[in-house]
Amino acid sequence: MAEQYILALDQGTTSSRALVFDRAGNIVSVAQKEFRQIYPQPGWVEHDPQEIWSTQAGVAAEALTHAGLSSASIAAIGIANQRETTIVWDRETGQPVYNAIVWQDRRTADFCDELKTRGLEPLVRKKTGLPIDSYWSATKIRWILDNVPGARERAGQGKLAFGTVDCWLAWNLTEHRLHVTDVTNASRSMLFNIHRLEWDEELLEALQIPRSMLPQVRSSSEVYGRTGTAVFPSPIPLAGIAGDQQAALFGQMCIRPGMAKNTYGTGCFLVMNTGDQPIESRNNLVTTIAWQIGEHVNYALEGSIFIGGAVVQWLRDGLGIIKSASEIEALARSVPHSDGVYLVPAFAGLGAPHWNARARGTLFGVSRGTTSAHIARAALDSIAYQSYEVLKAMESDLGSRIAELRVDGGAVANDLLMQFQSDILGVDVIRPRITETTALGAAYLAGMAVDYWGGIGDIQSQWKLDRRFTPGDDADNAPAYLQGWRRAINASKAWADA
Ligand code: G3P
Repeated sequence: MAEQYILALDQGTTSSRALVFDRAGNIVSVAQKEFRQIYPQPGWVEHDPQEIWSTQAGVAAEALTHAGLSSASIAAIGIANQRETTIVWDRETGQPVYNAIVWQDRRTADFCDELKTRGLEPLVRKKTGLPIDSYWSATKIRWILDNVPGARERAGQGKLAFGTVDCWLAWNLTEHRLHVTDVTNASRSMLFNIHRLEWDEELLEALQIPRSMLPQVRSSSEVYGRTGTAVFPSPIPLAGIAGDQQAALFGQMCIRPGMAKNTYGTGCFLVMNTGDQPIESRNNLVTTIAWQIGEHVNYALEGSIFIGGAVVQWLRDGLGIIKSASEIEALARSVPHSDGVYLVPAFAGLGAPHWNARARGTLFGVSRGTTSAHIARAALDSIAYQSYEVLKAMESDLGSRIAELRVDGGAVANDLLMQFQSDILGVDVIRPRITETTALGAAYLAGMAVDYWGGIGDIQSQWKLDRRFTPGDDADNAPAYLQGWRRAINASKAWADA
C-alpha cells in the first residue's frame, strides 16, 4: 500500500492553515491563507464563517497538491481551532445567521457584569472552571439570540445550531451530517460541566440558551465520521478534534502532570497539564480540559493572554514602524532595553490573571528620547511580562515552582524575546525543533484514533529539542523591570475603571 499521511487543519484567529505530516512527525507540506478581520465597533471582532470554511477547505486541498498527494493517501484528518469563537447557523440551509463572534470580542461585557451581580460567579466557576467573562462562547450565543431578528424563536423550534469553529468545520467537511464538538472546545463555552462532562442544564437555563442548539460532545481522538466529496474525492476519517491550545499541549508532549507550554500566537496561552484531577485556581487562572483519549480525561490549568504576537501586528499595521513582523527583532535589538517605556497591550481588555474587559492599550514612560526601537522593545517585553504574571499565578496555585517551560508558535523564532522570557521568568525556556505543535497535536490525536500511531508511547520520542534558553545577565535586572510593569498594569486598569 502507498505511504499514508495525516492532514491537520489549524484554523486560527488570523489564518487558516493545513499541514501534512508523515509517520515520523515531520512536516511534508504547509498551506496557509489569511482571512478578513471585521471590526464593526471598538471592542467587537467578527469573522465571516463562510470565509473560515472556504479558506480552510482551500488550504487543505492546496497542502495535498503541494505534497503531490491525493486524498486516498490521507489516513485521517485532525482539527485544531481558535477556541470560543461562536457561530450559529440554520440546520436546514447550513447558512450562518450572523457573523462568527470572535473570542476577542467584548460586546457582552455588560451582560457578564449582570450575571456577576446575579451572584452566578461561584456556581459558574465550580461547574465550568471558568470566571464569568465575555471571552467564552455562552454570552456570545446569547447575544445572537437576543439581537438577530427571529433567532430566539427559530432556536426554540430546534432550527438553529451552535458550534465553535471545530464544529463548523466538521459540519461542512461532512456535508452537514455531523454536529459534534470535543470536550476541550466544550470546556471553553461556560456551559459545560467539566466534572460530569455534559452540558449543564442549570447554566443553560440561567442564560436562556436552548439545549437543542448544542452539538454532541465527543472525545478528542476518535473517528467522528467521514468527509463528503465536496473537498476530497475519497472520503477521509475525521478522527481528532481539540482546541488549538490543548492541541499544542499535546503536540509539545506535555503528557505528565506539571509539564507546561506557552504558545506565542495572536495571544499567549500558557497551559499546564494537571493530570486526571481538575485543579481549582485561587489566582484567576482557568481550569480546563486538556484532552480526552478513550475514557481518560486529562485536565489543565490555563492562563489566557489576549494579546501576544498580535502586538507585533499592531506595530506593523497600526503604527507602521515595521514592514513585516520579522523586522521587529532587529529593531528591538538596536537598543539595549526599553529605556523605561512600557506598553500594556490591553487592546481586547486583559485576560488572566486580571480579567478586565474594559482595560485598553496604554503606553507609559515616553520621553523626548523615545524612538520606534524603544516601542518595539517594550512591545516584545510586554509579551514576556504577561507570561510571567500567568506563570507566577500557576506556581502559586500549585504551591511549587515550574522547572521549565516549553514554547511554540510564530514568535518563538525571535531569540531576543525567548532570552528575555527566560531572564524574566528565571526558568529555562525550551524551544522544540517543530514549533508547529498545534497542528502536530491535532495530527497525533487523529492518527492515534485510526492506529496510524500506536499510542503516546509511539510518538513521545518524536519531540526534539532545538534550543534551551537559560536565565542570563539580564535576569539580575528582572525585579526592577517587573516593578515598572506592575505600575504600568495598575495605571492601565485604573484608567479603564475611572
Ligand atoms: O482562546 C483563543 C485561542 O484559541 C486563539 O488561538 O492561535 O488563534 O491565537 P490563536
